[in-house]
Amino acid sequence: MTLKTVLVTGGAGYIGSHTARALAEAGLRPVVYDDFSNGHREAVRWGSMINGDVRDQDRLTEVMAGFDVDAVIHFAGFIEVGRSVTAPAPFWDVNVNGVAAVLGAMRATGVRRMVFSSTAAVYGQPEGDGLGRLSERAPKAPLNPYGDSKLAAERMIAAHARAYGLEGVALRYFNAAGAHPSGELGEAHACESHLIPLAIEAALGLGPALTVHGSDYPTPDGGCLRDYVHVCDLARAHVLALTAPLGPTGFDAVNLGSGAGRSVREVIAAVDRATGRTTPYAQGPRREGDPAVLVADPGRAAQVLGWRANCSSLDEIIANAVAWRVNPRFGFRPTTEAAA
Ligand SMILES: NC(=O)c1ccc[n+]([C@@H]2O[C@H](COP(=O)([O-])OP(=O)(O)OC[C@H]3O[C@@H](n4cnc5c(N)ncnc54)[C@H](O)[C@@H]3O)[C@@H](O)[C@H]2O)c1
Repeated sequence: MTLKTVLVTGGAGYIGSHTARALAEAGLRPVVYDDFSNGHREAVRWGSMINGDVRDQDRLTEVMAGFDVDAVIHFAGFIEVGRSVTAPAPFWDVNVNGVAAVLGAMRATGVRRMVFSSTAAVYGQPEGDGLGRLSERAPKAPLNPYGDSKLAAERMIAAHARAYGLEGVALRYFNAAGAHPSGELGEAHACESHLIPLAIEAALGLGPALTVHGSDYPTPDGGCLRDYVHVCDLARAHVLALTAPLGPTGFDAVNLGSGAGRSVREVIAAVDRATGRTTPYAQGPRREGDPAVLVADPGRAAQVLGWRANCSSLDEIIANAVAWRVNPRFGFRPTTEAAA
């Protein structure tokens, strides 16, 4: 089968919109399917745009048949870890029932492959000294309903692959960051919880001072280490995952990270360099449930996808994120409002 049309659920969101662009640049036809609960119509500029709920199997079936869809990339879901603890019901509903509906529609229309947005949150607290890089074989023990819902979805996809001959690739992203180098596409979450955009806001005086959580971790500067991976590297991995050969189970799970751990202070220093300002921050206590180190072993991604991060240096990520933040269209505001 020649791959042509790809349904991109959640394609109006941060990683989905970059991936729709990468698909179009690879000569494929993206069909974005989103309910715009957290996405932006203005971010859908590559391919068709369908307004629909990912839990609506009949509508998904109609769209997959109508557009002659060949494969699905499934991003749609809720992402805020903290909210998944205080309000878990919608996380289980959208993140798990959404996957069930997409798989049902794929079976009804004969679409074989799903590439699924998973997360490093499926691993929970790394074992041992916690300072090693995580391989896909590390124990799965999520610390919150968000991670639970993603692991449940992975297992549902694997079971469907075994039983019904579907194919699934779960991509476990570490810390997605950065923006398209054009400065025209980037992160625009209504409720931002990610370190890099918050640090940029603080540096530019557009948001409160940053709080650095914890200074006594067993790491070189006492802060947590995380693995930041450029959103354009992630987008490219999704395109590769559409055609990657899979073993006999028809399912594989792959970490997507740079393999390098960066501390909060290193992020702040890079934001200072990119903005020419000094990022205001306060030192706070550790946050419950924060592992000292969350860094990917990216070896399997190289093996299965032929992928490695190639634009994920902290300076490149942050320079692109700053360019997006200072673009008048930041957050996909209409031009008139941005100009006002
Ligand atoms: N951003 C990260 O650092 C990160 C890390 C690991 C995994 N992920 C996963 O990647 C995926 C995309 O993340 P993102 O940062 O682009 O999030 P995002 O919120 O920007 O995008 C998610 C999209 O899904 C849509 N959506 C939500 N509920 C829907 C529903 N019921 N029907 C149809 N569409 C719906 C939203 O409108 C939004 O456009 C998510 O599944 C997330 O769990 C993200």
